[in-house]
Amino acid sequence: MKIAVVGTGYVGLVTGTCFAETGNEVICVDINEEKVAAMQRGEIPIYEPHLDVLFERNIKQGRLHFTTDLASAVKDAKIIFLALPTPPGEDGSADLSYILKVAEDLGGIIQDYKVIVDKSTVPVGTAEKVTNVLKDKTSVQFDVVSNPEFLREGFAVDDFLKPDRVVVGTSSEKARKVMEELYKPFVRQGNPIIFMDEKSAELTKYAANSFLATKITFMNEIANFCEKVGADVDMVRRGVGTDTRIGPRFLFPGIGYGGSCFPKDVQALAKSGKESGYEFKILESVMETNEKQKLRLIEKVDAHYGGDIAGKTFAMWGLAFKPDTDDIREAPALYMIDALVERGAKVQAYDPEAMDNVKRLVGDKISYAESMYEALDGADALLIATEWSAFRNPDFEKISGKLKEKVIFDGRNLYELDRMRDLGYSYESIGRSM
Ligand code: UGA
Repeated sequence: MKIAVVGTGYVGLVTGTCFAETGNEVICVDINEEKVAAMQRGEIPIYEPHLDVLFERNIKQGRLHFTTDLASAVKDAKIIFLALPTPPGEDGSADLSYILKVAEDLGGIIQDYKVIVDKSTVPVGTAEKVTNVLKDKTSVQFDVVSNPEFLREGFAVDDFLKPDRVVVGTSSEKARKVMEELYKPFVRQGNPIIFMDEKSAELTKYAANSFLATKITFMNEIANFCEKVGADVDMVRRGVGTDTRIGPRFLFPGIGYGGSCFPKDVQALAKSGKESGYEFKILESVMETNEKQKLRLIEKVDAHYGGDIAGKTFAMWGLAFKPDTDDIREAPALYMIDALVERGAKVQAYDPEAMDNVKRLVGDKISYAESMYEALDGADALLIATEWSAFRNPDFEKISGKLKEKVIFDGRNLYELDRMRDLGYSYESIGRSM
């Protein structure tokens, strides 16, 4: 099939590349000329495990192309994916201006039947809005379909190629057939393509992300309470996660969820609830609790040093909002950096992938180390903000040789309490007490 993907951000690029991988001919469109030129040279603009191999292979095979010209890209395409940004506006609701602008442009361009697919996370009613914008501009037949993505950063290729399910919202039989044909190769293991109306598909995405954010936040609260009563959250997590109705995944407590999706989507769903006269009390409190959780480790730092950390130096391992990505959007580490610097402390940071992004954002407010061990040089304590695999089994002798005191504040519960006790560390983690 011939496919056009408008927008080569994270979602667009993974979508385009994975559809090319299954034999489709894909052309990706972006207004950023520099980015398109780089991709035409075979340079991949984002870091995502395994994507580079597929990207290169499909360019070489002539199935993956890039252009800035929307008209030529959509000319022969049967399906047009819209993978455009929907940033939160000032009031927290999703800004649809990019999507509606492209819809308007498409209205002036298309010459024959197209299936136009909303891939971006968009509020309920967006497919209807896109349809209306197009209808104002063209009399050519088209269908607008909602097909939300459920990709996790760091696992996006796997999630795309082997999805738990594919959700397709359309009321058109013709579009349904096209989407079914397109997604058949991805659901060979018997995972379903779930067809529904457009609005239900749009809401499914928000409901899924908000539920997951709530699950994490609930566990974070249980962890905080564990500390009060002397229980161990690792045990509680295992105890509750074995109930198949709850499940073991997404129960790991930490320093709050971040990233480009959960914070934005929870906020947008709460906001669209309000607009429809419905108050999502649960989401309001998820947001409030998560904000506090991002500074949970700093509360522990304050408690440890009696509230005075001016002049102290902290090594920080991990800056990305989670491992296997260079994404720092809404990363708890950034909130912690602000709090530490505000209190007069110094931060020596190390992250395997995200340092360039942090440098661009906060500059020389903190210093950057070449390696995880270099970050420890002369520091008073180590703070762990992201659970990169490299931090899971470090050389503790090396760590204690470099730190002024054996003090670790771990926001991701990487180490066993017994081990830290034996090694003589003062070790603070989330929901577990020494
Ligand atoms: C999330 C969803 O998992 C995807 O299904 C969805 O498609 C995507 O948002 C999106 O809307 O585009 P992502 O933001 O890449 O994916 O990251 P996750 O792996 O889901 O992690 C989100 C946050 O939750 C991270 O800050 C992570 O540290 C935190 N988390 C996750 C926990 O604190 N505990 C857990 O047990 C799991």
